[in-house]
Formats: sequence, structure tokens, C-alpha cells
Amino acid sequence: MKVVGIISGTSFDAIETAAADLRLEGDFVVLRPLGARGFPYDPQLRAAVAAALPPATTSAAEVCMLDTRLGRAFAEAAAEAAHVFCEGHADLVVSHGQTIFHWVEGDSALGTLQLGQPAWIASRTGSPVVSDLRSRDIAAGGHGAPLASIFDVLLLGSGEKRRAALNLGGIANLTVVPGGEAGDPAFAFDVGPANALLDAAVEYLTDGSETYDHNGRRAARGDIHEGLLSSLLEEPYYKLGPPKSTGKELFNLSYLMERLAPFGDLGADDLAATVTALTARTVADALERYDVPEVVASGGGTSNPTLMGMLEEDAPKARLRTIEDWGIPSGAKEAYAFALMGFLTMHGLPANVPSCTGAHSAVVLGSITPGREPLVLPDPATRAPGHLRIEAAVCKEP
Ligand SMILES: Nc1ncnc2c1ncn2[C@@H]1O[C@H](COP(=O)(O)OP(=O)(O)O)[C@@H](O)[C@H]1O
Ligand SMILES: [Mg+2]
Repeated sequence: MKVVGIISGTSFDAIETAAADLRLEGDFVVLRPLGARGFPYDPQLRAAVAAALPPATTSAAEVCMLDTRLGRAFAEAAAEAAHVFCEGHADLVVSHGQTIFHWVEGDSALGTLQLGQPAWIASRTGSPVVSDLRSRDIAAGGHGAPLASIFDVLLLGSGEKRRAALNLGGIANLTVVPGGEAGDPAFAFDVGPANALLDAAVEYLTDGSETYDHNGRRAARGDIHEGLLSSLLEEPYYKLGPPKSTGKELFNLSYLMERLAPFGDLGADDLAATVTALTARTVADALERYDVPEVVASGGGTSNPTLMGMLEEDAPKARLRTIEDWGIPSGAKEAYAFALMGFLTMHGLPANVPSCTGAHSAVVLGSITPGREPLVLPDPATRAPGHLRIEAAVCKEP
């Protein structure tokens, strides 16, 4: 089944698409990557998303308009990916959508809202669409995140030793996968901000002329402000046990400005260095706490050599790799993971990992919007795959 996965994360920097040919084979689900491509958001749409995100408030009218505009943008991206990587037609499109609000109270998630009306995607591509994957996990008592854990558990679970997958998006999240005969369940949690505070700081201090610390240059030039770093590390969220999830509802510009206030003004480079160090330190603490000898990183943060360098320094006991070692571009991992989830949904298979999201049971995720043809589902699979194999990539360069 040729599947296009689409996601825009909490950084809302780009629409990431990835196409894969997926099949079930005994105990394996086999993923052959067909190609991946990121489509930068139209600046006006990006600004509209930013204006609607917490801590800002919005209206039902704005939400409706954004749902449509995002749906149309995802539809174009999906159509282009299907055109370039699937000879024009995908059997399935899986759309994560753009998270506008993730409702967490205390230690539970109560709701989540991803916009990007799937009707536009089905209409433009003619393919059936699986969307709204997080809600069903929340309805099953989970956090609705991290959902990419299914990819990590199936891919990394067969190793001899404990490994972890680390995604460095707006938020850093970690899935710890026990290896060998351990028999322990995998667990996962959002560690804290990866790029969320860094992007916010750079955007603010450059008056919007830069939206992120390109190649970590500012952080590399700056000095870490130890006082501010200690203050940031006192955040109670870091002390909560898994499962836990967070987002820009907490880690946003006003959060950073409040903690910065007692220390006066810091230059952009020093602030970048300090919040980069915050990510490295909190991730390294988590790796140390759970005794992880090998970590497989993905997400936009892997393109920041200053962050990756600090992480290596702060976590000397963990071997740091990236998902590129498996033939998956770092920025496309989550799009591939969602392609996998939607594929499982079409086969009647659960795609949440209850031990990772905190759900009380494994459930089939998402809602299905039919494509141009009558909806025909494959026969339900008789057993869930235990492993993910990534076949040699035959990626087409766009
Ligand atoms: N070349 C780069 N140098 C530094 N940071 C980068 C680079 N490329 C991407 N990033 C960071 O990665 C972020 C996007 O990562 P991504 O995995 O797409 O996160 P999300 O899933 O939240 O959208 C950007 O906002 C930026 O902070
Ligand atoms: Mg992104």
C-alpha cells in the first residue's frame, strides 16, 4: 500500500510529507521509503497559525478559517508528494494536522485539536485520508502523545540493549525501548522544550527577521548564563514521572521572558546558548535517569550542530545516532511514523502504545474520510506486527 504521511509539528515551520510503500509480512511490517519532502508554510498562513496558538486566544470563526486554509495547504502538499513519489496516486494519505491546542490538566490529557480539514485532502488527492489520530488515544485514557512511539518500539525493540528514540521538534520527546529479553514495556514522555523556546527567543530578539537559530550559530557564539539556566531547570514539569506531555501552552515566549526578567537583558546569542543548553541538559538528565546507552535522534533539532554537540557533552555515556542510519531523513521521521499509523488503522490494527501514552488499552487510531472511489478496506490483519523493517530506500530526489 502506497501511503503518504503528512505532519506539521509544534514548530509549524513546514509541512513534512513522506511516502512509503508498506506491507505486512509475517511478524513484520515492512516500510520501503519512497521519498520525503518538506513544504515551507506560506508566511501568511504561518502567521495566522501563530496568532491562534496559546497563549493567544482565538474565535470559532478563526478556527474554521484556519481549518480550511490548513486543509488546503496539506492537500497541495499531499498531492505533490503523491505525484512525485507515488506515480500520481497514493492508496492512502495520513494527515496529522496542525495542533492548535493540547488540553492537559494535572497529569492527564483531556482533549486535543489538530486542524487541517481532511475533506480538502481527500477531494484534492482522491485518496482516502486517515486523520485525527490523537483523539482516540485520549479517549482511551492516554495523553495522545507521543504517538510516534509505535515506530520506535517496532523498529528499536529487537535490539540487544535498551535504546531510546529522541525527537527534537518544538518539544523534545523520548521513547525508551527496552532491548533483549528484558520484557519491560516501552515508555515515553515529552522531556521539555527542544526548539520551542529557542525559536521564540530568536524570533523575538531579531524582531522576526530570523525564526530559528540557523545551524546553531548564535548558540555557538554565545555564553551560557548559568543563573538563568538554573532558574529554568527548576521548572516542576521536569520532575514529573512519565507518561507526561507538554507543549507551547507551557513553553512559550512569555514563559521565557518571565524567567529572564530577574536577570536583566541578555544578548540574543547568550540567550540562544542558554536555552540550547537547557534542552541538552534536560535530555541528558533523562538519558542518565533511565540508563540509556544508545539514543536515536530525529527532528529539526538534529540539524543544529551546537545542540547536538552540547548533548554529546552532557550525555557522554549515551551513543548518539540519528534515524538517518536507518535510511530515514531526520526531518521526515514523524511523517513516516504517521504513514505507518494510518496503514495500521486501515488494517484494523491499533497504533498507540499504551505503555507510552498512558492509555488503558491499544486502540485503532483516527477517522477515515473516503476518497474518490468507494471506501474499500483491506481484510483486517489477523495479528499485529512485532517488528518494523525499513527496506533499502529507493527515494527519488524531488
Ligand atoms: N539548520 C538548522 N539549524 C538549526 N535549527 C534547525 C535547523 N533546521 C531545523 N531546525 C530547527 O528545527 C525546528 C523544526 O523541527 P521539526 O522537527 O520540524 O519540529 P516540529 O515537529 O515541532 O515542527 C525549527 O523550528 C528549528 O528550530
Ligand atoms: Mg516542523
